[in-house]
Amino acid sequence: MARCIAIANQKGGVGKTTTAINLAASLAAADCRVLLVDCDPQSNATSGMGIQPESPDASLYQVLIGEVSLSAAIRGTGFSGLDVVPASHNLAGANVELIDADSRETVLKQHLRGASANYDFLLLDCPPALDLLTINALTAADSVLIPMHCEYFALEGITSLMRTMVSVRSGQNPALAVEGILLTMYDSRLSLTGQVAAELREHFGQLVLNTVIPRNVRLAEAPSHGMPAIQYEGRSKGAQSYLELAREILSRARKRLGNTDCSEERPNAIRN
Ligand SMILES: Nc1ncnc2c1ncn2[C@@H]1O[C@H](COP(=O)(O)OP(=O)(O)OP(=O)(O)O)[C@@H](O)[C@H]1O
Ligand SMILES: [Mg+2]
Repeated sequence: MARCIAIANQKGGVGKTTTAINLAASLAAADCRVLLVDCDPQSNATSGMGIQPESPDASLYQVLIGEVSLSAAIRGTGFSGLDVVPASHNLAGANVELIDADSRETVLKQHLRGASANYDFLLLDCPPALDLLTINALTAADSVLIPMHCEYFALEGITSLMRTMVSVRSGQNPALAVEGILLTMYDSRLSLTGQVAAELREHFGQLVLNTVIPRNVRLAEAPSHGMPAIQYEGRSKGAQSYLELAREILSRARKRLGNTDCSEERPNAIRN
């Protein structure tokens, strides 16, 4: 069974998609089988993996409205071990079209169930909203990975996400856990960054992951080349920090389960 991680924060531009793409690739480089599901109508994870969002092939929208099966929407990528379910802009319509369906909050979970046996990780890239798409992702997920900017209003954003998680736990998904809080675009030269990071660690303790993602131009450039940073510029600090994140997540999974199918030692290797 795959571990399903939703990457969520309703605040925009905090690094959700960058994390989804690069963690997915880093886990795949560690010999894990990974399915990256783009749950955001902006389709940035789709284009960042080099797939045209508006191509006529099946996307998550058709899956959610019951037109095609999930397996029909899964695409291979240029990156070994990493598959993608792409999004397209019409995915925004699913928020409206599903509203009257009894299964409106569980439809994604039902579709992912069939794929779970074929992967070690399912990563769900959420939109910057606590909408029905995000609720579906939180309902399907075992845990939530929360990317956060080290800035003054960081804590405000996380409060409503935590409230939504409490509500999802009290309904469809009582076991929903926090995978971790990930500090992104970390700039150690700024004293504010250090202050906010210290406050977050004091407030959330072990929930804040040890790995921090530095601000790094290669991470911003890679999506325009349609590839993860470890493929675009594997030696960059940004790519290395996501390999480190994969190691930390695998090590936590190992402690939790006693074992994982994929190797914690391997995310240095860049496979293509
Ligand atoms: N560590 C980083 N260093 C430099 N640039 C980054 C980094 N992480 C993300 N970016 C850039 O910041 C912008 C926002 O990142 P990203 O798209 O990952 O955020 P997001 O949370 O998914 O946004 P949205 O809420 O719109 O979906 C992008 O242009 C991305 O390339
Ligand atoms: Mg995004």
